[in-house]
Amino acid sequence: MKVTLSLETTISSDVSIMVDALRASTTITLALNNFEKIIPCLTPEEALKLKEENGGIIAGERNGKKIEGFDVGNSPKAVEEYQTTEKTLILTTTNGTRILENMNSKVLIGSLINAKSVGEASAKIAENHIDVVMAGVKGEFALEDFLASGEIIYQICKNLEYCELNELAKAAIMASRDYNSLKSGFYNSRSGKRLAKIGYKDDITCCCQKNISENVAIYDNNELKLIKD
Ligand code: MLT
Repeated sequence: MKVTLSLETTISSDVSIMVDALRASTTITLALNNFEKIIPCLTPEEALKLKEENGGIIAGERNGKKIEGFDVGNSPKAVEEYQTTEKTLILTTTNGTRILENMNSKVLIGSLINAKSVGEASAKIAENHIDVVMAGVKGEFALEDFLASGEIIYQICKNLEYCELNELAKAAIMASRDYNSLKSGFYNSRSGKRLAKIGYKDDITCCCQKNISENVAIYDNNELKLIKD
C-alpha cells in the first residue's frame, strides 16, 4: 500500500484522511457523539441559510472565535456537549471544512484523538493508496497537523503488511514518536499559541489527547457521518 503525506490537496483517488488537529478534525470526531451528521460548509452565510431552511445547530469559527449569531464556536468539547435535541450540526471553519471540498476520493477525518481508529479504518477500505492530508493554515504548513499525521500514519502501518511511504510520511512518524515532545509541539505551534492567546488553551489540551475516541467520520454526499463497520 502506498501511504503518503500531503499538504492541503490530496494526491490519492483511493482514500484520503483530512487532518486539522487544532481543531476542526477533533471537533468533527467528538461531535459525532452528539449529532448524527455534520454538514461542512464554506461560509457563515451558507451555514445560516442551511439552518433557516432545514434546522440544525450551527458551529464554527473565524480567526478562532465563535461567529456572531452562531450557536457554538469550534471548541471540540463545547460542540460535543452542546445541549440540543437537533441531530444535525452545520460547521464552517477556516481551513478544515474548506479542504474537504476538493477531495475526489473516499475521505475520512483524522486527528490525534482518533489516530488508531482512523488508521485501522483506512487500512480496511483502501485498495492501493492512502494519502494523509494536512489541512495546514491558509496554505501553510502547520506543526500540529504534521505531528497528528505522524501518529495516524504509524497506526495505518500497524494494520498493513507492507507500506510504501513518501519522505514526508517517514519524517512525520519520526517526529511523533515521543508523546511529550508531540504535546509540546501542539502548544508551541503557531495555531496553539494563537488559540491560547484568545482563551482556548483547554482546546489544545483536548486535541492533543492520543487515541481516546473510536469515532471515524467519513465524508460522503456533502455530509460527515460515522463510518460503518
Ligand atoms: C480550521 O478549520 O481552520 C480550524 O480548525 C481553526 C480553529 O479551530 O481555530
